[in-house]
Amino acid sequence: MMRHLFDIVDLSVEEIDELISVANDIIKNPDKYANACNRKKLATLFFEPSTRTRLSFEAAMLELGGSILGFSSANSSSSAKGESVTDTIRTVSCYADIIAMRHPKEGAPVAAARRSLVPIINAGDGGHNHPTQTLADLLTINREKGRFTNLTVGFCGDLKFGRTVHSLVNALSRYEDIKFVFVSPDELKIPKYIKEGVLAKNNIPYVEENRLEGVIPNLDILYMTRVQRERFFNEADYIRLRDCYILDNEKLKLGREDLSVMHPLPRVNEIAVEVDDDPRACYFKQVENGKYIRMALILKLLGVTL
Ligand code: CP
Repeated sequence: MMRHLFDIVDLSVEEIDELISVANDIIKNPDKYANACNRKKLATLFFEPSTRTRLSFEAAMLELGGSILGFSSANSSSSAKGESVTDTIRTVSCYADIIAMRHPKEGAPVAAARRSLVPIINAGDGGHNHPTQTLADLLTINREKGRFTNLTVGFCGDLKFGRTVHSLVNALSRYEDIKFVFVSPDELKIPKYIKEGVLAKNNIPYVEENRLEGVIPNLDILYMTRVQRERFFNEADYIRLRDCYILDNEKLKLGREDLSVMHPLPRVNEIAVEVDDDPRACYFKQVENGKYIRMALILKLLGVTL
């Protein structure tokens, strides 16, 4: 049966373990996978801007020996002439074996998949979900910590619109002994549907705070996020909130030696560049891991086994 990926919970814990295991094997034995997707084509359809997700998908397919096609903005496709997303997807599914799409409307990949002849991967839908970023985050946690259990994970910044936060909270809530610390201004708190539908439902302990400094010493992972300008209705609110948390070396001194600092990127001001040289900074490792885990995902959804 054809599989799509809309949400991280579309994958079971066992399937995530398997993807991580394949990604780790790709890292160790890249040559083994160099022709795995010979003559297969990946389309990247990005109706919203991206650097990492689109290019890592494309690099992933090229490293598997496949080919790529697609567009990087809605304006360069017939969407600009009024074509519906479903017609665009139906069309591209005649040309490609698998599609990764990003769209500003929540749920667009689900609608698109109804007309698609090939697997659809959600590469970010509005402020909703970003499951392949979560897979990159999970591979990073696996490589840094060696476990998904017994972790205190702090999320800081725009927890309302940050789709990577929603997906990672969902993913980690399936493991034992996880605690969350949510640090945000009142206007950008984690949504009620995550609190009720994920945290309360799974009995996951969490606290909500306004100040970052007080919680840093307790964390195994600090996941910083950008305030999502593109999701605000009002520019004045964005300007007021955009620099509410800035992680610099002074604040990082409060963290443990084995703290992992993560960020899905792009960053604006929320992590000072000086932090990049700290061995606890993991955000460029996430970027690299994104390619390996997307290679593993492409293999899985295309049903390629070696
Ligand atoms: N993390 C992430 O989704 O980055 P891009 O917006 O550059 O793809």
